[in-house]
Amino acid sequence: MPESTAPEKKGTRAGNYFISNYPPFSFWSEDNAAAVEQAYATPHEGTPPALGLYHHIPFCRKRCHFCYFRVYTDKNADEIKHYLDCTVRELETMARKPLIEGRKPHFVYFGGGTPSYLSPSQLTELTDRMKALLPWDAAEEIAFEAEPGTLNPNKVKAIKDIGVTRLSLGIENFDDRILEINGRAHRTKEVYRAYERIRAEGFDQVNIDLIAGMLEETEENWQRNIEKTLELQPDSVTIYQMEVPYNTGIYKDMKASGSLVAPIADWETKRRWVKEAFAALEADGYTISSGYTAVKDPSRTKFIYRDSLWGGADLLGLGVASFSHAKGVHYQNLTEIDDYDKALDAGRMPIKRALQTTEEERMIREFILRMKLGKVEAGHFSEKFGVNILERFDSQLAQIHDEGLLNVEDGKIILTRDGLLCVDNLLHDFFLPQHVTDQIV
Ligand SMILES: C[S@@+](CC[C@H](N)C(=O)[O-])C[C@H]1O[C@@H](n2cnc3c(N)ncnc32)[C@H](O)[C@@H]1O
Ligand code: SF4
Repeated sequence: MPESTAPEKKGTRAGNYFISNYPPFSFWSEDNAAAVEQAYATPHEGTPPALGLYHHIPFCRKRCHFCYFRVYTDKNADEIKHYLDCTVRELETMARKPLIEGRKPHFVYFGGGTPSYLSPSQLTELTDRMKALLPWDAAEEIAFEAEPGTLNPNKVKAIKDIGVTRLSLGIENFDDRILEINGRAHRTKEVYRAYERIRAEGFDQVNIDLIAGMLEETEENWQRNIEKTLELQPDSVTIYQMEVPYNTGIYKDMKASGSLVAPIADWETKRRWVKEAFAALEADGYTISSGYTAVKDPSRTKFIYRDSLWGGADLLGLGVASFSHAKGVHYQNLTEIDDYDKALDAGRMPIKRALQTTEEERMIREFILRMKLGKVEAGHFSEKFGVNILERFDSQLAQIHDEGLLNVEDGKIILTRDGLLCVDNLLHDFFLPQHVTDQIV
């Protein structure tokens, strides 16, 4: 176990900060692909957990300098059509598997890359075909990521018409110069134009993404971002602290110049910026619902994808590089579009790496992901896993408590605001010893 959980106070070095799953991806392997086939071969015993559907659209207008997602900026219309056909073929095969057959998705998520890169007709055709294979009329949430500059009135209408309930807009920053320096394709004018149309279409929920600590971000600019966010009054605001993974343009530049530290704000500054934004949002009536999110009205603004996934739902991921979770088996699809398309063309499952998790790993996974919400109820873990987490994690919790980052009250672990703002740094302490590594990739 690391000696101290105290947040990193130094500059932003290369590597991943955000923890999205457990055990870490570096422990997943292509040798475990057979476990995936096995998981799908029989239905769940008893009542199955919620089922989600994820569709990855790996296309963008431009690759942002900070982005670490699998994206392509050079695909023509025929290549995009072929890719979409492959994802439909993937769904066709998977929907017939005993684990999935007869179940209806509880939530659907279109992520990327940029789902809004697709044209209205591509979106309508794709979703009609998907719905025919696995009807999503029982889904409580259809979430969709959009890049502001790809939206026009017809596109916004098409996104509404296919059933999207939660639209997430990648604004990132309200300053055109900063957007340009960071390689974004959109400008602020497009944000306002798109936002007006989105509001006019009456989506149930509109989220905006911001990043604290983009290249050339300043105190003054960050304060302006907070003001502009409050003026827009979105239903929810997600603020990421800029991280610089190895596959980003920013890291390539660091390597070329021999620099170990990225030319962006240090972690302490980024945390303070998010803290100030959260405080301003709270003063305006928003509620902080995770280490990254503020919501205007928690009684109507849910994020079913996140909460179901973090609570152990099955997730059927379609498309290149997408992640899935099937009856306790984690897996990721092939991460290059040509390999993915070839596997589907040959009628093979496009699996890159997988891991059969143990009950203990699933318990730890759910625990650390729930910690990101800022509050964890011990009772839930005794009921679901028969584990008293307050005893099991006694020493780690005591240490983090002594650092002023959490409190335990009435069987609940509650992170302080400072704890919540560095939550991803705290989670490694709860990993099994064999999973503690320097890099979580
Ligand atoms: C798939 S993108 C959202 C949709 C669309 N591609 C866009 O960028 O507008 C998901 C989000 O991840 C965040 N993100 C990407 N790279 C990041 C990084 N290096 N550090 C922090 N957040 C990052 C951005 O806020 C981005 O909006
Ligand atoms: S941040 Fe969004 S638009 Fe930019 S490259 Fe990544 S996925 Fe594409």
